[in-house]
Amino acid sequence: MAEGSKLLGVAALALVVWSWSAIVAESGLGVNWGTVSLHKLSPSTVVDLLKFNNIQKVKLFDADPDVLKSLMGTGIQLMVGIPNEMLSLLSSSTVASDLWVRQNVSRYIVKGGVDIRYVAVGNEPFLASYSGEFQSYVVPALMNLQQSLAKANLAGVVKLVVPCNADAYESSLPSQGAFRPELTQIMTQIVSFLNSNGSPFVVNIYPFLSLYGNSDFPQDYAFFEGTNHAVTDGPNVYYNAFDGNFDTLVAALSKIGYGQMPIIIGEVGWPTDGAVSANLTAARAFNQGLINHILSNKGTPLRPDVPPIDIYLFSLLDEGAKSIMPGNFERHWGIFSFDGQAKYPLNLGLGHRLLKNAKDVQYLPSRWCVANPSRDLSGVANHIRIACSVADCTTLNYGGSCNAIGAKGNISYAFNSYYQLQKQDSKSCDFDGLGMITFLDPSIGHCRFLVGVTGSNSSSFNLHIVTLATVRSSSTTLLMHQLPEFGALSPKPKWPSGGWLEKTCHHGLCQNHFDKARIPMFQEPKILLKQFTTLLSTWVKSSANSTTTWEVRQWRIGV
Ligand SMILES: *[C@@H]1O[C@H](CO)[C@@H](O)[C@H](O)[C@H]1NC(C)=O
Ligand SMILES: *[C@@H]1O[C@H](CO)[C@@H](O)[C@H](O)[C@H]1NC(C)=O
Ligand SMILES: *[C@@H]1O[C@H](CO)[C@@H](O)[C@H](O)[C@H]1NC(C)=O
Ligand SMILES: *[C@@H]1O[C@H](CO)[C@@H](O)[C@H](O)[C@H]1NC(C)=O
Ligand SMILES: *[C@@H]1O[C@H](CO)[C@@H](O)[C@H](O)[C@H]1NC(C)=O
Repeated sequence: MAEGSKLLGVAALALVVWSWSAIVAESGLGVNWGTVSLHKLSPSTVVDLLKFNNIQKVKLFDADPDVLKSLMGTGIQLMVGIPNEMLSLLSSSTVASDLWVRQNVSRYIVKGGVDIRYVAVGNEPFLASYSGEFQSYVVPALMNLQQSLAKANLAGVVKLVVPCNADAYESSLPSQGAFRPELTQIMTQIVSFLNSNGSPFVVNIYPFLSLYGNSDFPQDYAFFEGTNHAVTDGPNVYYNAFDGNFDTLVAALSKIGYGQMPIIIGEVGWPTDGAVSANLTAARAFNQGLINHILSNKGTPLRPDVPPIDIYLFSLLDEGAKSIMPGNFERHWGIFSFDGQAKYPLNLGLGHRLLKNAKDVQYLPSRWCVANPSRDLSGVANHIRIACSVADCTTLNYGGSCNAIGAKGNISYAFNSYYQLQKQDSKSCDFDGLGMITFLDPSIGHCRFLVGVTGSNSSSFNLHIVTLATVRSSSTTLLMHQLPEFGALSPKPKWPSGGWLEKTCHHGLCQNHFDKARIPMFQEPKILLKQFTTLLSTWVKSSANSTTTWEVRQWRIGV
């Protein structure tokens, strides 16, 4: 009987989903276009790249006007995002939500405008490491924005969604899936809201992180090529982590009464650098396996023949300015490198057998900055520290593509990364006479010494600005944190015994605010200062005591 009714449920589900998708969206493959880059291609170059590759669906993390303008008239279907930091305001003010909709949605929905289909309200706002910080804002913000959309006559066109991390639910077996207990009520509210508006549930699923974070995780279960570690769950057998995770969500949704909720995969992918398991072979195997699996329309044991409505690969391009709190791999998720070049062969199932590279990329001249071989390099540590605190040197670390290039190679790599970031300003290759410019590409094997692009000068705007917070407390040493990466200072700041500050840094400040929140690190210095000051004062109020004093200062470094 139970089996019978389950089968019935599944058949009904298939009908509901297909009719839904026929009306609202075509099932398909899209990409996340994040812009936390050090070397930004111009938006029009990126849009051309999307077009060459027949990519029809794009997800953004904000509503950057330059990006939105570049998508006008392209017919590309868009999900725009609202950063978590804006949820508080949007939850408390209908004026603010009206304004957000007017400025970031309505004005683009015109003839020859942008095909905005979804607005993502927050990005993984329930992430466990946020400790509930954004939790109470999500539903009120949804309500306000829905009303604002209705006022603008867009409620039928633009759907609100809430991308959730897969850590919103848990279970050892898919069929036992349930939302985290403290989220059950809010998830029920949200899913009921989504359901009444014809919106799908959006989830981000990362088998890579399961493998990276857990040495017991069976590697072959992360991929799609068969496994010796299949998971048997009653009558169902799972051969890959993606399906298992997806069905855990399906079960969690069933448990709160919405087992038929359509699902979109908001982020899924595999990085290519910055960890041993992050490499070209693995990324290609995962992404191609995933795409073939989805396009086979097989679905999963709990949703046979009903694949997710859409999946958005994470990510289109590498983003060299992302926080590396989660790991060095964080800057290497792109299927294309920062300059729009395909990293590996991939058939997206959109008409081309291989990825097509970006065209007409404007590179800086072919020259590099390297360590001067005729100089004594023993005093170079400080230069490397500063260079790598603003430029990206993540590939040098263990598991990275440049980890084995030797001590001198390391120095040259750091020098060059900084030099390219400074748009090859000759002063930026000085390093007290230890650097020199070369016209021979110093790349070695898989380790690529990059040449910057000239796409836009916005990211070089304040690269010389460093923000430091100094915290003193009666019994402890002077503590310093440097943006963008706290603790990147060398020698490492001394933590007080017990490590409270470090813990706060990981789980409070850094993780919450500079990693997942996607605050661009090189934005207007005054804004950064203000945000950071607010963060720190909140932290001091909640975690420190009256013996603690603190200040935040910014100054220029380098040239
Ligand atoms: C529109 O979106 C942008 C980018 O996310 C944001 O900076 C801006 O504040 C938004 N506009 C309003 C009125 O909230
Ligand atoms: C690439 O990653 C896979 C797992 O993700 C690993 O098994 C393999 O050893 C890695 N390859 C190299 C060359 O490191
Ligand atoms: C190069 O730098 C990386 C990262 O700091 C380090 O792991 C590696 O050991 C260095 N190589 C040499 C030869 O010093
Ligand atoms: C690039 O620099 C020029 C001159 O400094 C400035 O006018 C322009 O607004 C900048 N462009 C961007 C995208 O920041
Ligand atoms: C205040 O905080 C410091 C640093 O954690 C600690 O050493 C000190 O004992 C605290 N004082 C009180 C009264 O809690």
